[in-house]
Amino acid sequence: MSKRSSFRNRFSFYLLAIGSACGLGNLWRFPYIVGENGGGAFLLLYVFLALTIGMSLLIAELMVGHYTGVSVLAAAKKVSQQTKRKSIVAFGWLSVIISVVTLAYYSVICGWVLHYLTQFLMSLFQKDSTVYLSHMSVTMLQQSGWLQFLLASVHLLISVVIVVKGLGDGVERWITSLLPVFGLLVVVLLIGSLSLESTPEVLRFLFYPDFSKLNWNSLGHAVGHVFFTLSLGFGTMVTFGSYFKKDEEHLPTMGLRVTLIDTLISIVAVLLIFPIAFSMSKQPLTDPSLLFEVLPRFLSSYKGGVIFGLTFFLCLWLAALNASLGLLETITANLVEKKPKLKRSVAASISGLTILLITVFPAFSGTIFKNFKMYGHGLIEIFDSFLINGLLPVAGLGMVIIALTGLPEKDRKDLFISQTSMTSQVMYSHWKIVLMWVLPGIIILGLALQIIGLFFR
Ligand code: PHE
Repeated sequence: MSKRSSFRNRFSFYLLAIGSACGLGNLWRFPYIVGENGGGAFLLLYVFLALTIGMSLLIAELMVGHYTGVSVLAAAKKVSQQTKRKSIVAFGWLSVIISVVTLAYYSVICGWVLHYLTQFLMSLFQKDSTVYLSHMSVTMLQQSGWLQFLLASVHLLISVVIVVKGLGDGVERWITSLLPVFGLLVVVLLIGSLSLESTPEVLRFLFYPDFSKLNWNSLGHAVGHVFFTLSLGFGTMVTFGSYFKKDEEHLPTMGLRVTLIDTLISIVAVLLIFPIAFSMSKQPLTDPSLLFEVLPRFLSSYKGGVIFGLTFFLCLWLAALNASLGLLETITANLVEKKPKLKRSVAASISGLTILLITVFPAFSGTIFKNFKMYGHGLIEIFDSFLINGLLPVAGLGMVIIALTGLPEKDRKDLFISQTSMTSQVMYSHWKIVLMWVLPGIIILGLALQIIGLFFR
């Protein structure tokens, strides 16, 4: 099946972009990153960065794709030929490599979700489901390398099959049509969680910014997470922009909407997880296992909680699958453009296999690679930190360079400024300032502070 040439309508675009942005980044990664960086002040910093540099880069990536009509690797090549700067191609490669490695470790976490999903399902057939579920723990999962590898493989296989069949075939519509159900579950959970005794303490932790709690890494972590959650720096939004051919919708408006929805979901996620985590005793709030340790135990202690948990983890897995599809679609699109003779199905399978091989490292991080530690962190955390907080911002910088040098000022203006909106004229100059100065400045500062932080542990 050939790649679909353009979106059927703008609604499809929103489904894909929001589906790619909203995933484990919001519900799993964001809460522990906020915990790790001390709460309120970090949350404020994050929201500020999402709405400034995040949104600006999202618009820029969509524009690059829309203007060049190709994915990031081919776009970088075009721009490097145009500007006679060979080094720009390296940024294209960096994005693709980051996408491949990220999907490998993302699949392992998706495997965790699958595990919890099956455990909830199996608990339905046990005499005492609460006792059964109380045995679940992420630590146990991390110590079973083969299980993690198997679960990640199942997740990847499903993703490859869907991408081979073509994303436009309605899978994303089907998954996204479940999102209202997920939204409803989240609202019910939110009400339950906010009525816990710990809520006032949590609200103080989250909304009373104590800047002394920020550390050397906080800026870099905030930048990295903004990019991760909005799927920036991977080239995903470039690929989506390249599919979007007709001028049916104003790109900056799309960027704004996707950013707002994603940020809102992240805030809801912390409001949901923290009261439960605080009330469930001395849970560490700064660990990748946060969501998985806290939520199932909370749910299983309630009547009807098992069915609720089952539906919740099913929806969470589908959201994560949707996000994985965005990544795999990007990798496949780049490969097909690089090797046009390759059939899409072959390209998706090669991509899937390569990713599966890399999955071995995070999957066996608690067993074979147990002794591989840096600053007390295991392989999964090193993967996450190095990729998301270190390399991804550099790839984001590459995207800015591609957008600023590859698109003529006139075309950028045409795509940005809408005839019907006066504010878009003013916003254009703000957007350019953010891209040219603020974004590179913040990325470089974030990286520099993290490096300095290494010496002050
Ligand atoms: N943004 C997704 C999330 O928050 C992760 C992702 C990154 C998906 C890049 C696609 C591309 O979970």
